[in-house]
Amino acid sequence: MPSSRRRITRIAPADADSIAAAAAQLRAGGLVAMPTETVYGLAADATSDAAVASIYAAKGRPVFNPLIAHFADRRDAEREAIFDDRAKRLARAFWPGPLTIVAPVSPACRISLLARAGLDTLALRMPDHAVARALIEAAGVPLAAPSANRSGRVSPTTAAHVAADLDGRIDWILDAGPAPLGLESTIVACLGGTPRLLRPGAIARERIEAELGVALADEPASGAGAPLAPGLLKSHYAPRAALRLAARAASREEAALDFGGVLAASPARARLDLSPSRDLDEAAANLFAHLRALDAAGAATIAAAPIPERGLGAAINDRLRRAAAPRP
Ligand code: TXA
Ligand code: MG
Repeated sequence: MPSSRRRITRIAPADADSIAAAAAQLRAGGLVAMPTETVYGLAADATSDAAVASIYAAKGRPVFNPLIAHFADRRDAEREAIFDDRAKRLARAFWPGPLTIVAPVSPACRISLLARAGLDTLALRMPDHAVARALIEAAGVPLAAPSANRSGRVSPTTAAHVAADLDGRIDWILDAGPAPLGLESTIVACLGGTPRLLRPGAIARERIEAELGVALADEPASGAGAPLAPGLLKSHYAPRAALRLAARAASREEAALDFGGVLAASPARARLDLSPSRDLDEAAANLFAHLRALDAAGAATIAAAPIPERGLGAAINDRLRRAAAPRP
């Protein structure tokens, strides 16, 4: 893995001046943390192997884990990959927005082979965030961007989260306040046959299936060859503390990640409720920030209340299961 050189990280409100300066840095091969509607992303020029290599180095990310290419315009995206009818339909229905489409690369594809981890497919997304789109437009190239956290850690939903993980390792952090959705994009592969759900995320599976009029296929069971989304390691999104799932009570030693107040009467040393009114969209928006805050409370274990599996609950439970998995 390439080593990460020490950088001076400038943190600034995302305005016209900082966006222009950050875009110039991107054209010169630099690293910029940008706000999107899902989580903050760590962006670099997706067409440059050297720029993409420094993303992996700054995050400490395994290089077999490919990156999403971000576009400001649907037609730009459609030049880089081959969109079948269903992929086109999904892009028209959900872009700009928190849907990532995996499609075969086009013969004209300019995205760095390193960003694709050598695959002949590409993950593409058009963010629904004015700052992200202005930055991509000003940079004049697609931007490769994983979540702007150290590899294996909780995704950042504020500029302060990014700074806590990456200060001194990247060039810019553009601050546009908390990410509105707080959960990563849903990833759907359109590679012929039935489209496949690779990662549950900020658009509920039900909405995608309603748009397509078919049920999405799931990741093949492990053991059936390489995983389609190589980044979906079992242990991921990990806070420092261990996680105990589906908790109906929390002890004095534990911190409590509550939902709908079921842990309110427990003697936990700290308690944060994802949504006292049991609203799953609100819970998704709070998930990563609450995990970070409870981690900072210093408990060895975080007890997490049960979350219903419907709507965005599926993606929340996916992240919690990964956070609870044994660490490598
Ligand atoms: O909301 C999001 O998607 C955020 C923001 C910044 O856009 N990005 C994000 O990126 O979550 P990252 O790198 O944390 O997750 C990207 C996932 C990884 O699991 C990776 O393995 C998968 O996308 N992926 C990328 N390219 C792929 C491909 N060609 N085939 C299958 N999976 C792919
Ligand atoms: Mg990530």
